[in-house]
Amino acid sequence: MKLPARVKIVDVGPRDGLQNEKQPVPAEVKIGLVQRLQDAGLAEIEVTSFVSPKWVPQMADAAAVMHGIRRRAGVRYSVLTPNLQGFEAAVAGPRAEWPDEIVVFGAASEAFSRRNINCSIAESIGRFAPVADAARARGIAVRGAMSCTVGCPYEGEIAPGKVGYLARLMKDIGVERVDVADTIGVGTPRAVQAALEATLAHYDVDHVSGHFHDTYGQALSNTLAALALGVWNFQSSVAGLGGCPYAKGATGNVATEDVVYMLHGMGIETGIDLDALIDAGVYISQALGREPHSRVSKAIRTKKES
Ligand code: HMG
Ligand code: MG
Repeated sequence: MKLPARVKIVDVGPRDGLQNEKQPVPAEVKIGLVQRLQDAGLAEIEVTSFVSPKWVPQMADAAAVMHGIRRRAGVRYSVLTPNLQGFEAAVAGPRAEWPDEIVVFGAASEAFSRRNINCSIAESIGRFAPVADAARARGIAVRGAMSCTVGCPYEGEIAPGKVGYLARLMKDIGVERVDVADTIGVGTPRAVQAALEATLAHYDVDHVSGHFHDTYGQALSNTLAALALGVWNFQSSVAGLGGCPYAKGATGNVATEDVVYMLHGMGIETGIDLDALIDAGVYISQALGREPHSRVSKAIRTKKES
């Protein structure tokens, strides 16, 4: 199996990881997490979302977090913006505080689209198109997250054709790269490959990433299955944080620590310092009053203590 020599990871912990936390996490803690992730060598960080605070109260401090982070040259900072209102809020401050990339987020499942962003797939594309245009006009990159590409909490199994359909719509409105998300972590390697292949019919492999939640413990296997197709961009959450408020029971993304350990073990470069990443995971987990949800973090810390 020929695999990519290098992988780029977007750590989505500060956004996907924290959005579902019931306890309010202070902006300073989120800023501290972003700092530790960039110190660990993450070149892409999904920082926050400009969404309705009534829908996702945890992200209400998006502007304060973007204001507070200390940016490092070469790191790409992204935020979620589901509509023009969110986009305008994301660029309301000085240019130095704008995101480098915005993320519009749609779903391959109609039911999930309605629950998550309160509109149909077709309506969502109508909302995303002016956001994509406005971002590009300001030199901001545009990514598209595609939820429920394998399974949906409301519709069950999702056919790859629905994923291809959404990918084409994203492409038509100028979304530059897309994330193939297994939102509820039900996917197994062949199903995930089918969703990726449906996307690869519209985007080249350099513009497709894997975003795997680990609810059923399949995310590392799915990562390997994606690597086998040549996919080399992935999203994961430090300490395995997270879940989506509109995907009940779905747990966090695969832990970045676990992905990095696997990749380094296979001789694949990430540019990430695993020990520093583990420290970042411990930092945020302590702030939340729990253990990091990463087997690699636990094993390495236990070994160091003995
Ligand atoms: P809506 O109710 O249809 O919007 O919500 P609306 O335009 O009718 O406006 C209603 C109210 O929301 C108004 O306020 C607006 O001002 C406000 P009111 O007059 O009632 O006081 N509003 C906003 N406020 C702040 N920022 C905005 C904004 N837009 C409207 N951008 C909306 C539509 C999309 C806003 C809403 O459904 C929403 O915020 N949903 C949040 C969805 C979300 O954040 N989900 C989690 C992220 S996606 C995810 O986790 C999946 C992913 O990880 C991939 C995967 O794993 O699948 C990416
Ligand atoms: Mg997600």
